[in-house]
Amino acid sequence: MEVTVKREEEGAYSRFLHDSVVPGSVLQVRGPSGVFTFDGGNAESIVLIAGGVGITPMMCVIRYLTDMSWPGEIFLILAARNTDELIFREELEYLQRRHPKLHVVASVGARSEGSAWMGLEGQITKDALAHAVPSLEIRRVHLCGPPPMMETIRRILSELGVPANQVKTEAFGPATGAVPPPRPLPPPPPPLMVTELVERVEAATPPLMEPIPVAGPATATISFDRSHKSAPLPPDKTVLEVAESIGVPIDYSCRVGTCGLCKTKLLAGQVTMEVQDALTDDDKASGIILACQAHSLGDITVDA
Ligand code: FES
Repeated sequence: MEVTVKREEEGAYSRFLHDSVVPGSVLQVRGPSGVFTFDGGNAESIVLIAGGVGITPMMCVIRYLTDMSWPGEIFLILAARNTDELIFREELEYLQRRHPKLHVVASVGARSEGSAWMGLEGQITKDALAHAVPSLEIRRVHLCGPPPMMETIRRILSELGVPANQVKTEAFGPATGAVPPPRPLPPPPPPLMVTELVERVEAATPPLMEPIPVAGPATATISFDRSHKSAPLPPDKTVLEVAESIGVPIDYSCRVGTCGLCKTKLLAGQVTMEVQDALTDDDKASGIILACQAHSLGDITVDA
């Protein structure tokens, strides 16, 4: 088993692993989770786009596919801050020499002192991506990197004609915050004849337009069916946050919609989820939601 963890000054977990864990340390671990995987099925080629330590989930895909001599084309587009941060560089060069179907294009923000870097420099651009991957729009894409980089690449992919459902993502930064669904607006009033309008003004009748309601404090309620508990559900709180506040146990790990540990069945009502990478099509069809992402402005009931 292997883990790849970049030490972050602000990261409690990464500092613990780097600074405190030594050979012989005993750790309690949980098995891998999430659906950001690719075993060669469901696509004839794969495009892996990674920023920095986002290369981590790509390496297991590359190792697996090259190990089994998968016949499809494998494109790896990699961005790193500098040449020192191109982790797995030697292994990738080795695999590339042995597997003609593996195409690696790397770009660095700056070359490290003394490095003989011949690859791209700067951020991954639309032109660079289109040049590196022919017929990109028909290929399955996996994307993992810091949130701003992922946002940029998502936009570029869309501009290059890649359908959103062909793009699978895994975030390793915090979620940018879920957006509550818009409250339905009242239907517009019927058009008025000029004479009717004048009559209304003259008669000082109530306003012609109803005030448009905006999302405000909680007016919705969430019911936890198994726990026999309920609570107000503010629009800016997730199902998971409300569950925690009243002691309803829902398992979780990533809290950004990728691991799937917080899967919960929605029994009534509707929710929106900004990230739902951990849900399969079957999950969605059977009403499974991610509690860490689910927001609602209406009453809902969940199986928890
Ligand atoms: S998807 Fe990981 S905690 Fe919700």
